[in-house]
Amino acid sequence: MRICVCPGSYDPVTLGHLDVARRALGMFDRVVLAVMVNPAKRGSFEAADRVAMIEESVAERLDPDAGRRVQAASFAGRLLVDICAELGASAIVKGLRGGSDFAYELPMARMNKHLTGIETVFLPGDPSLEHVSSSLIKEVFAHGADVSDMVPSAVLSRLPALPSG
Ligand code: PNS
Repeated sequence: MRICVCPGSYDPVTLGHLDVARRALGMFDRVVLAVMVNPAKRGSFEAADRVAMIEESVAERLDPDAGRRVQAASFAGRLLVDICAELGASAIVKGLRGGSDFAYELPMARMNKHLTGIETVFLPGDPSLEHVSSSLIKEVFAHGADVSDMVPSAVLSRLPALPSG
């Protein structure tokens, strides 16, 4: 079975993340969306909520079979390569919105390859979602913008609960 890991902060998940997960599903038998929690950095949403938003979005937006083939889990204070080894993943899959994403991701891909030999597969992001990031979603939402065409409904319903929301 071919397994891949799509790592990220997912704080919160966006339609860009879900597009990458859907496309990864076309190449792998199982896709694990790994919510990577940095214990030194407090996020906006709790890890359990980030996982719940992904699970609800997968059930709503990916095909019915995806519930069994796509999973979400959170991990704190651990190396991604160790999580991949534990899950039996043969690749890391990441979406690239543009050149700055590539510059950020390339050293991590090379380091991960150096550490355990795991490959990283980069998918070019959907151009219509190139400007969509979790941080910009939170910022514009906090100032009253409509983000309903950039995040799944599971996120839309939770954004107002954020302190700035
Ligand atoms: O959502 P992001 O900020 O693009 O996610 C970056 C993330 C969490 C995938 C990356 O920082 C990561 O893999 N962290 C886990 C710890 C780790 O393995 N660090 C070494 C990377 S070479």
